[in-house]
Amino acid sequence: MAAGDAASACSADAFQLRHLHLALRVAFDPPGGSGRLQGSVRLQLTCLRDHAAEVVLDSHPSVQVESAGLAPPGSRCGGDGSEEPGELRPLAFQSRPFATYGSALHITLPEPLTCGDTVVLEVAYRAGGGPGVCWLTPQQTAGKQKPYMYTQGQAVLNRSFFPCFDTPAVKSTYSAVIKVPDGFTAVMSAITWENKKDNTFLFKMPQPIPSYLVALVVGDIVSAEVGPRSRVWAEPCLIEAAKKEYNGVIEEFLTTGEKLFGPYVWERYDVLFMPPSFPFGGMENPCITFVTPCLLAGDRSLADVIIHEISHSWFGNLVTNAHWGEFWLNEGFTMYAQRRITTEIYGAAYTCLEAATGRALLRQHMDNTGEDHPLNKLRVSIEPGVDPEDTYNETPYEKGYCFVSYLAHLVGDQIKFDAFLQAYVNQFKFQSITADDALEFYLKYFPELKKKGVDTIPGFEFDRWLNTPGWPPYLPDLSPGEALMKPAEKLAELWVSPDHNMESIKAMDISAWKTFQLVYFLDKVLEKSPLPDGNVEKMSNLYPKISRAQNAELRLRWCQILLKNNHYAEFDKVKDFLHSQGKQKYTLPIYRAMVSGSETARAMAVKTFSATEPQLHVNVQNYVKKILGLNTGKN
Ligand code: BES
Ligand code: ZN
Repeated sequence: MAAGDAASACSADAFQLRHLHLALRVAFDPPGGSGRLQGSVRLQLTCLRDHAAEVVLDSHPSVQVESAGLAPPGSRCGGDGSEEPGELRPLAFQSRPFATYGSALHITLPEPLTCGDTVVLEVAYRAGGGPGVCWLTPQQTAGKQKPYMYTQGQAVLNRSFFPCFDTPAVKSTYSAVIKVPDGFTAVMSAITWENKKDNTFLFKMPQPIPSYLVALVVGDIVSAEVGPRSRVWAEPCLIEAAKKEYNGVIEEFLTTGEKLFGPYVWERYDVLFMPPSFPFGGMENPCITFVTPCLLAGDRSLADVIIHEISHSWFGNLVTNAHWGEFWLNEGFTMYAQRRITTEIYGAAYTCLEAATGRALLRQHMDNTGEDHPLNKLRVSIEPGVDPEDTYNETPYEKGYCFVSYLAHLVGDQIKFDAFLQAYVNQFKFQSITADDALEFYLKYFPELKKKGVDTIPGFEFDRWLNTPGWPPYLPDLSPGEALMKPAEKLAELWVSPDHNMESIKAMDISAWKTFQLVYFLDKVLEKSPLPDGNVEKMSNLYPKISRAQNAELRLRWCQILLKNNHYAEFDKVKDFLHSQGKQKYTLPIYRAMVSGSETARAMAVKTFSATEPQLHVNVQNYVKKILGLNTGKN
């Protein structure tokens, strides 16, 4: 296992990875749309100890290694893609089982190395059948004309894209040369992008990043400028909508982030709108965030996701969790940063309302799992063999947000805490850290708090925050959002009361309510469902802006309400929503609700899954199968 990371087999203790270079040809295999990657990965390594006789890389059974070789002494890794390493000395290699989610590639060196030696290894391989590389048929794209491929590395999927040091503890610069078929464009999470002749694209990332942030898309995609350092990328048929949604808004997010957290080191910030099956709201690949097309809501109401991913530019991408058990360092700090940015731009009322919907998600999650569930600790212990993906939940996000808010509360002065965040980023930039590093730095930065012993206040011990499951001991004050929340709460009350009064309901005008106010209202209704008989139908008729919404956040909640109330007349909306997109955080709660619902709902779940399965990400498929009690072949 790599230093402190049970999810990686790589020899990070024995070698420092300085640079990696990918040289790949991407081919779509007609007619199914699946395809393959063929080429090589070159790794420039410095040996950290004497007598190192083998290099172990994370890999995957779907990766077929063709050869491994050692470049002549003095070779460089080919940062600009043009340098060929010369005659390679063949090396023996062997793939060994590691876990359900990957294998270990052992490469034997011709003679043991000495501490300080630098070598360049090249592994020639084919890949494409694994979970990190997704192939979509033309039918699964917006334009329906051409196939599409994308990679998704987080958390441990990139080992099926290229053999690598697949631990967030290791960072390196990278470069890539990608050859694509005629009529396709490649983009990567890199600072420079060059379109060479012969359908070849050249990428360079001169800042060190962890393997999970290396990302590639090949498709029929185009771009449009939306700011001085930003473009949107999408299939041609979506580019106008993408441009309209984000033109002129992204720069303000970036400058606010810079003002709060320090320099933006990634030069460019682009947004790529993915096909509907993309399993996340957003993925913070450096220089180019990948997002679900659901963000094209038409009214900029879902920009929080973009602000969240931008926040990862400092928290996650610059200061990175050293292993996936400390994922809350990435997501908790990012939620805090996101809400600092929205407070600056949209004000405290909006931000508190949005944070209240986040708190509701944490509540739902803890109700579902039980507060004492071990995953409801900030620091998760990921035992050997456990797939980090399987530990994903709301706790690192929203309990993490509460903990960072608590750290700010202890300081008691927003300006001072903002300055701390900047110092934290500056202290740990380009490094990977644990919670202990972060908290030690916090106490060093605020010696008066350390002297007071703030880390051991009974009930609020830092150790308890990190290692005890359960509801956060401190909740930030969301009362600045009350002007927006109260009316929504009141309206929800009216709808759930058994002797509900349509007059008072109709007297409340929701026409000016913003998306998040409606979301908050629907969360309250959902919490209190089932409603008295007939009310869902009345609500549906009275509020077409909810029941016929195109906005995915509203559709999710409406579907949950329909299911919890067994409102069969609109069950088609549930089916349609599941057909229209494949985001994990939308898909799984709906399947859970269907399975715990009526016989009709369960039957619809099975039927809908069999129709939509091929369009879902393989991890999402497996989670749905688990919910449906189908055999996944995966523990
Ligand atoms: N980094 C995550 C997405 C992720 C997490 C991918 C774990 C793979 C494994 C991303 O930043 C994220 O949290 N996205 C959220 C958006 C959000 C506003 C909380 C999402 O996709 O819903
Ligand atoms: Zn995130």
